[in-house]
Amino acid sequence: MSKDKIEVFVICRTDEIWPGEAKAFSLSRRTAEGEVRPFPIVITRVGARNFYGYVNVCPHEHSWLNFNAGTFLTADGKALQCGRHGAQFDIASGLCVAGKCAGQSLTPLALAVIAGDVCLCGEPLVADERTEVANEYDDTMEIMIHPG
Ligand code: FES
Repeated sequence: MSKDKIEVFVICRTDEIWPGEAKAFSLSRRTAEGEVRPFPIVITRVGARNFYGYVNVCPHEHSWLNFNAGTFLTADGKALQCGRHGAQFDIASGLCVAGKCAGQSLTPLALAVIAGDVCLCGEPLVADERTEVANEYDDTMEIMIHPG
């Protein structure tokens, strides 16, 4: 597939997520059957440049990770945590390293930073007032994709 065929949606500006912070976004995605379904995601930032995105669904009992406390990170900020039963996930890989679903993983998203925007690549999102199709990028722009 050529690069210009990948669907790229702008999710937010990079400065809307501070280093050490994680944020939820409630998106919508079209299924293969054409139905529009909720698509909750979480994006976390590590340091100045690294953004990691996952579907906001815990592999244990499919709860939102921010269930209860409304937060995504452990107190020390070193792992993602499910608020329901406390499973902890490596931020960079999404692997559950402790808790009820140890060894399973969050579903990773392909993110790109394009001209100061955090963008989601390759998902059939339904554009709304929050998201927009990023169709103005070209080969000169910096693109980082995680997990790489
Ligand atoms: S639902 Fe996440 S640890 Fe149980």
